[in-house]
Amino acid sequence: MSEEQPRAAGFSTRAIRAATTLPQVRQAPSTVPIYQTVTFGTADLAELGDILGDRTSGYAYSRIDNPTASALAAAVAALEGAEAGFAFGSGMAAIHAAIVSVVGAGDEVLATTAAYGGTRALFTGILNRLGIRTRFVDATAIEGVRDAFTPQTRLLYLETIANPSLAVTDLAALADEAHRRGVPVIVDNTFASPYLCRPIELGVDLVVESATKWLGGHSDVLAGVVVGNRERIAEVRAIQTDTGAICAPFSAFLVLRGIETLAVRMERHCASALALARYLEGQEHVERVLYPGLPSHPQGAVAQRQLLAGGGMLAFDLGGREAASAFIDALSLPERTASLGSIKTICVHPPSTSHRQLDEAALKAAGIPAGLVRVSVGLEDVEDLIADFAVGLAAARSAVAA
Ligand SMILES: Cc1ncc(COP(=O)(O)O)c(C=O)c1O
Repeated sequence: MSEEQPRAAGFSTRAIRAATTLPQVRQAPSTVPIYQTVTFGTADLAELGDILGDRTSGYAYSRIDNPTASALAAAVAALEGAEAGFAFGSGMAAIHAAIVSVVGAGDEVLATTAAYGGTRALFTGILNRLGIRTRFVDATAIEGVRDAFTPQTRLLYLETIANPSLAVTDLAALADEAHRRGVPVIVDNTFASPYLCRPIELGVDLVVESATKWLGGHSDVLAGVVVGNRERIAEVRAIQTDTGAICAPFSAFLVLRGIETLAVRMERHCASALALARYLEGQEHVERVLYPGLPSHPQGAVAQRQLLAGGGMLAFDLGGREAASAFIDALSLPERTASLGSIKTICVHPPSTSHRQLDEAALKAAGIPAGLVRVSVGLEDVEDLIADFAVGLAAARSAVAA
């Protein structure tokens, strides 16, 4: 009787097996690995079913959960003082999931007038079409917010430091007002980052953050995060599973890398922003400087109580659109681009960029004058920035005189 030899696998089979054999690593890597995989093998069908059915923890499919994205969510949750989190492919994806995890058709949202333009567009566009009505309120006037709640209000949506007015919201007081009415609160903490402020510790229910900004810190990655308690994050995760907006593994890796240096970067961003704000305050033709670290800031007392420092963002009013564009166009160091929270200084004219969706009346209501310049202060030498700004101010003066 001839015994059958086991069949030798063919070349393609061996190539796939060889190229997907995991290295045996007993030592822990010093950084979180990039789990660039869509699927994860399970012991048997029962285990796969349990993971997909949320009956056991584990990974099955990277749209639902990915270890590198989970590591980012856990890191931000830890820094924000929250129980749990979920990492998204952008700040807007995080904001969308957080909002629709709380409200549905027929509900009403109270949102700060000074919200980021993209967030306002989400409220007035898609969410409005889906039957979620939003009323905008000045979140710096607590009385006004108190009067704006109705029996249909199901969510209060705020920003720690508003974009671009740099208004500082009294989160503890407003969370208290909302909770007394059984209304949960979501706060966009992008401008502050957990280095400056931790809204969960002030009573907020969900914190959303564009990790594209200070957390990533280098203008090379788009990502977003939502953090909160386990129950709320389970709801957010459920929305995400069906909409598919999870953070890509490489993006999560880049944000984790940014977070390692968040504190040292923020110290320098804050120190340079304060120096620039002080310089600008003394300049002719600068009508107003808005910086949470200056005693002249309208919510200076709230900022002192709520923020570790003044932050890396400042804004100033040059009195008109022409002066603002002449200033920005004359600069040589800052990039003429959108975004913020980078190693490089970025100067923008919000009415033409982040808030281009707003008409004149809405700009006024959001506290955005036509001549506003918003600065995200980078890590360049501050003396170089001041010298460059002096050139910009001279150009703004000539534009107005001409
Ligand atoms: C305050 C704020 N929140 C959210 C976002 C949206 O973030 P992303 O561009 O990562 O979607 C931005 C973008 O500029 C922002 O400034």
